[in-house]
Amino acid sequence: MVKNKASALSLAVSALSLAGSADAFWRLPCRGRTGVGRLDPIMDPGKVSDHVHVVHGGSNFGIDNTPQDLVDSDCTSCAVTQDKSAYWTPPLYFLHANGTAEMVEQVGGMLAYYLLYTDAANPNGKITAFPEGFQMIAGDKRQRSFAYPIPDNDKSTWTADQKTQNALSQKALGFNCLNYAANPEASLYRHFLPDKEYLDANCLDGIRLELMFPSCWNGKDVDSDDHKSHVAFPDLVMSGSCPEGFGTKLPSLFFETIWNTYAFKGVDGQFVLSQGDPTGYGYHGDFQMGWDSSEFLQSAVDTCTNASGQIEDCPLFNIQTEAQEQQCSFKEVSALMGENPLVCDSGLPLDVPIQSGPSYATNYPVVLPGDKTQGGAASSTKTSAQITSSASASAVVPTLSYTPGTSSITDKYGGGILLANTASSYVQTESASAVQSESTSTVTAAASLSEAVTDADGNIIATSWYTTGNQVMEMMIEQVDVTVTATAVETANAHARRHIGKEHRRVRGHPRR
Ligand SMILES: *[C@@H]1O[C@H](CO)[C@@H](O)[C@H](O)[C@H]1NC(C)=O
Ligand SMILES: *[C@@H]1O[C@H](CO)[C@@H](O)[C@H](O)[C@H]1NC(C)=O
Repeated sequence: MVKNKASALSLAVSALSLAGSADAFWRLPCRGRTGVGRLDPIMDPGKVSDHVHVVHGGSNFGIDNTPQDLVDSDCTSCAVTQDKSAYWTPPLYFLHANGTAEMVEQVGGMLAYYLLYTDAANPNGKITAFPEGFQMIAGDKRQRSFAYPIPDNDKSTWTADQKTQNALSQKALGFNCLNYAANPEASLYRHFLPDKEYLDANCLDGIRLELMFPSCWNGKDVDSDDHKSHVAFPDLVMSGSCPEGFGTKLPSLFFETIWNTYAFKGVDGQFVLSQGDPTGYGYHGDFQMGWDSSEFLQSAVDTCTNASGQIEDCPLFNIQTEAQEQQCSFKEVSALMGENPLVCDSGLPLDVPIQSGPSYATNYPVVLPGDKTQGGAASSTKTSAQITSSASASAVVPTLSYTPGTSSITDKYGGGILLANTASSYVQTESASAVQSESTSTVTAAASLSEAVTDADGNIIATSWYTTGNQVMEMMIEQVDVTVTATAVETANAHARRHIGKEHRRVRGHPRR
């Protein structure tokens, strides 16, 4: 278990405006990780989990904490101090051809969106805050295939078979190929991890992993045996109608994490999720409710409806600095002492087999720290054939060519949740020298816009660079008609960054024209 502060290099600051939308939301940044380790208090309470997670949120996360334990956390790695919920997902690793696995750099922590969609069957109905003690999971770690059209057929044509809970949950995953110089892909457009060749060629800013949680609740159970069946997806995954018996609409929770896959461009090997999944179909995540109280969260749901989605526009939220977010970690768990989940010379930590599917993955034994030491004698008994074959045989994933978020497959938000429709590419200004500055500053749109330049289409564009602590932040403001987006530029372009745990500062100053 390692608190890997150094991994956050450059932060994607994403501001979006859902133009013309009546649906409110807020976007909660969780810049810090509270930790990394084989822990999952929902799936494996009291036990070492069979794969590694990256964890964000309240500091009372541990091997067997309950949601209520989180409320008493000393701190949170998210921006709103009244929220000590826990949010966790499997990280992405790069498995080198020689068998060494290293965790891919996670860029900017996590964004947890609270989307306030009402039930389409009851559009004027209310949204009910998560009750105290609530927890749930989304996704299935053992899934390795997808039996529906690729890409998704238009939502209006989804048949009953394409709207089963199983189908909806498989469509609730997204692998968004990031290239900030191009039009954005739609959120939840691609439900699998593209292969390495595709990532190298197209995803210059890495890949964004997206996960939509079910938002229809049975109104009574805070959990269920499988941690899923007390909730259900609405029939369009994100929006739509809740099924019978699940008429209580919760906030729609959506996770985003960004992984710097482009740092491995040209390097031989393959990407794989920590549970031994090179396909991505088994991506998943967990949530434990740790807001101060359900009552407080309900007030936020009722009050924080500014269409900007910015937590700053909600008067109820106490917002802490990013440095404070970064400082929050959960306590070392003794069962995992000495484990290094960031790098491992003999495949995934710890002995997680790669299962490429398409069949449903099997369970495998959990290696406990007492059983062996990582990289020690026992690891060498792991068959090299297993590693060699998995590294050389790429997972079977379909190819899916790039489609911008403005196509007909997107929902009414155009480019998905993160970006509304934009038509322009950006121009990078020569403001990179600002990176050298040690000053910690808060970027405001006004300050950034003073550096505005205009691109060929006449759009106002600005970049802003600043540092907080040891991080270099790049922020870009792009103004296109009614849409304001801000994204980090070229976060994945620094080829030299391969060393996990090393801090980097980057200066770039190549104007695009
Ligand atoms: C495997 O290759 C990577 C990348 O070149 C290197 O960092 C790592 O040390 C190598 N592992 C072993 C066991 O030689
Ligand atoms: C919504 O937020 C914007 C700033 O992002 C602010 O200018 C505006 O006044 C807010 N609207 C309301 C109703 O609070």
